[in-house]
Amino acid sequence: MSPETATVAEVLSSPWKIDGLTIKNRYVLSPMAVLQPTKDGHPSDQTIAFLTTRARGGAGLLIIGGGVATERGNQEAPFQPLMRFDRDEFIPGLRRMVDAVHEQDVPIFAQIFPSFGAMGVPGDGRPTRAASPKPVRMAAPRLPHGFYIPGGRTNPTPEEITKEEILEVQEQAVAAVRRAKAAGFDGIELGAHMRYLYSSFLSPRTNWRTDEYGGSAENRARILTDTIRAIRAEVGTDYPVGLRMSTNDHLPDGQGPEGFAEVATIIEKEGVGYIALSDANYESMDNNVTSFSGAILEHGEPQAFRAAMPEVPLLLSSTFDPQQCADAITAGFADGIMLARQMLADPEFPNKVLQGRQDEIVWCDHDNSCLRRLIFNVPVRCHKNPAMGREAALAGAKEPVSVKLKRPVQGLLIAATGSPVLMGIADKLATAGSKASKS
Ligand SMILES: Cc1cc2nc3c(=O)[nH]c(=O)nc-3n(C[C@H](O)[C@H](O)[C@H](O)COP(=O)(O)O)c2cc1C
Ligand code: SF4
Repeated sequence: MSPETATVAEVLSSPWKIDGLTIKNRYVLSPMAVLQPTKDGHPSDQTIAFLTTRARGGAGLLIIGGGVATERGNQEAPFQPLMRFDRDEFIPGLRRMVDAVHEQDVPIFAQIFPSFGAMGVPGDGRPTRAASPKPVRMAAPRLPHGFYIPGGRTNPTPEEITKEEILEVQEQAVAAVRRAKAAGFDGIELGAHMRYLYSSFLSPRTNWRTDEYGGSAENRARILTDTIRAIRAEVGTDYPVGLRMSTNDHLPDGQGPEGFAEVATIIEKEGVGYIALSDANYESMDNNVTSFSGAILEHGEPQAFRAAMPEVPLLLSSTFDPQQCADAITAGFADGIMLARQMLADPEFPNKVLQGRQDEIVWCDHDNSCLRRLIFNVPVRCHKNPAMGREAALAGAKEPVSVKLKRPVQGLLIAATGSPVLMGIADKLATAGSKASKS
């Protein structure tokens, strides 16, 4: 191992703490709705195999994506099916999954969504709800690499959520956290990013309420301060309770990192175990799922949050370059490193970095075919790792995996099985994918 690699490996191998929990290294599996639970929202054998593969690959902590806390959240979820936390009957299945991950000696957190806000799918008599009636507008030039939607896309306008509904959502979120703890999860994370319900309160761009939930930073923080206080009353002070939150709108009329950090300092006082930094949102996706490492550091968000909250552990996203990660930790701008797409492409990435085997890494190419599949509700796959999404079926395979995903076939599959609303643009997305593969 070269001295330089040793230093990187040493930094990234060092243990750290979230509330009362010690984590053995800095790598965290970023939450992703790729878990293929059963249609009715229980973890499947595939869910478990996906997670245990990443635990064996060296991640110090797994955070599972897209856990729904309410029945309404499940109905409006833009990605289906998701894992459910809205009734006690889900606890035994969740426990089976948690136990399997614990056998690998790795802790696991549940990311909890009470509502998808302006990103939800409305139904009959079930409008989507957000802080204010501001729809999500995805302009074509702001889509991530590999996406092409002529003229962009505007979601239905949400209704302003009422105070009674806010209190109901709070009660349901606390109940979901109670279930996660009962199932053995080592911690939970509230999702307050990407224009989902909670995040719509944080920025004046999406929150123009005149009641106690809008206006000042204190008021915009209120839905989360109240919820976290109620969660703490349920789970105590030592149980890890994290927050994934937006850090920058990246829009001309939006809020920058200092504004989000100001709101975060108010929420944090209620006992937030960590903040997972989430750059941009669905309206500025080009800054959210980036194709290069360290954009969030270039944008100054970890720095702004660290300046506002010297003690709170910060989790970095979209920073896969090990040297950059080690430097950020050494400089004090990050404590944990979340990896999403890189962990699809190579589940053994953490072990390879920590053991000085970087030359063996299968690098994610950031062409986002995984994300395109997510958006069309097709089970997520990774063309750099044919075993991804098939871990359970392949568990007994003696031969090396030789399944190959061909893009035209993938495009056809997307067109055949995707969401009816988006079907009309499926062929264009598939074409974009084919072009990317040839370049
Ligand atoms: C297929 C897919 C599914 C995702 N699902 C979730 C999710 O359920 N919750 C969440 O907070 N982020 C989700 N994300 C976002 C990732 O956690 C991460 O923030 C993003 O991919 C950027 O990180 P990366 O550069 O390491 O991929 C998802 C990303 C991908 C690619
Ligand atoms: S499909 Fe492409 S972008 Fe997605 S994880 Fe695999 S290599 Fe990365």
